[in-house]
Amino acid sequence: MNNELATALGQLASQALQSLEQVDDLVTLEEWRISYLGRQGQLPLLLREIKNMPAADRQEVGRQGNQLRHDLTAAFRNKQTQLSDLSEPVADPHPAKSIAEQRPGHLHPLTLAVRDLQAIFYKLGFQLVEGPLVEETKYNFDLLNIPLEHPARAETDTFHLPNGLVLRTHTSPVQLRSVLANGLVPPFQVYSTGRTFRAERTDASHDHTFNQIEALMVGDSVSIADFKGIVEYVYSNFFRQSVVTRLRPSYFPFVEPGFEVDMSCVLCRQKGCRVCQHTGWLEMMGAGMVHPNVLTNMNIDYRQYQGFAFGGGIERLAMLRHHIPEVRLFQSGDLKFLRQFN
Ligand code: PHE
Repeated sequence: MNNELATALGQLASQALQSLEQVDDLVTLEEWRISYLGRQGQLPLLLREIKNMPAADRQEVGRQGNQLRHDLTAAFRNKQTQLSDLSEPVADPHPAKSIAEQRPGHLHPLTLAVRDLQAIFYKLGFQLVEGPLVEETKYNFDLLNIPLEHPARAETDTFHLPNGLVLRTHTSPVQLRSVLANGLVPPFQVYSTGRTFRAERTDASHDHTFNQIEALMVGDSVSIADFKGIVEYVYSNFFRQSVVTRLRPSYFPFVEPGFEVDMSCVLCRQKGCRVCQHTGWLEMMGAGMVHPNVLTNMNIDYRQYQGFAFGGGIERLAMLRHHIPEVRLFQSGDLKFLRQFN
C-alpha cells in the first residue's frame, strides 16, 4: 500500500471540502472546481500518479481516488444548487414604468399624411396599387418613353444597381406595372404611394429618399378639366381649406401635354409670404395627359382612350401642413421632432 499517495488524497479531501465551505458565490465556486477537479486540477494530477504505483496497491488507491472524485463532485453540485437557489434576483436595472409614465408610440408625420391621402383617394374611387422600390430600367425609364439621353437617366440622378436595376426615381413605373400586372382595361383609376430615390446632394428641401403619390386615370373622355377638379379636391381635403391650382406647361417624356401644378398658398392664402416667395403659389407636382407611346406600352389604344397622370412629393404636403422647414427631419429619427406629432 502506497501510503504517501493515500495520505495525499486524504489531505486533498479535507483541504478541498474546507475551502468549499468558504465559497459563497458561483464565480468562486467555478474557480474551486477548476482548481480541484479541472483537467489540470489537483485531484486529476494525483490520480495520474496511480499508474506508477506497484500493481498491488493500485486497486485500493484507485478506488480511494474514484471515491474522492465522486465526493468532491457531489459536494460541488450541492454547493452549486445551494448558491443558485440563494441568489436573490438582482434589483431590476430597468424597473417597469407605471402606465402613467409610459410614453406610447405614435404615427410618423408621413404616415399620417399618407393615411389622409388614402382616405381621400378612396372617396374618389381610386384603387390603391403598389410597385417595387428596386425597379427595372424598363419600367423606370424605357416604357415611360424616357430616352437614353434624358438627363434623368444620368448616373448622377439615379442609384444604379447591378443587372440593370435601379432604385426607382419616381412612382411613375407603377402606372405601367399596375395596368400590365392587373390587366386593367379602361375606364380605371389607380393611385400609389411610396418611397423614391435620387442620387442628389441633399438640402433643406431635397433628400436622397423621399415619398411620392402618383395617380393615373384612363377612360374614353378623361380630360384636363377632370384632372384639375380631382387635384383641387385632394388638396382642399388634405389642407382643410379650399385651394385652387394653376397649370404651367412643362416637359415630361411620358405625358403630352405636360405641366407643373401650382397650388394656391395654404399658408398665406395668397396674400404673399416667405414660403410662397410672395407669389401666392406653391409648386406641387408634375402631371399631364398620358403620352400615346405610354398608353401603347400599357396595351391601351390611344385612339380610343386617354387619361391623365400626376405625381408629386408627400414630404412637401406634410411640411406645408405642419410648417416643417427641413425635409431631412423626416428620416432623422430625431425624437424631439417626432414627438411633436403625438
Ligand atoms: N414622375 C414625375 C416626377 O417624378 C412626375 C410626373 C408624374 C409627371 C406623372 C407627369 C405625370 O417628377
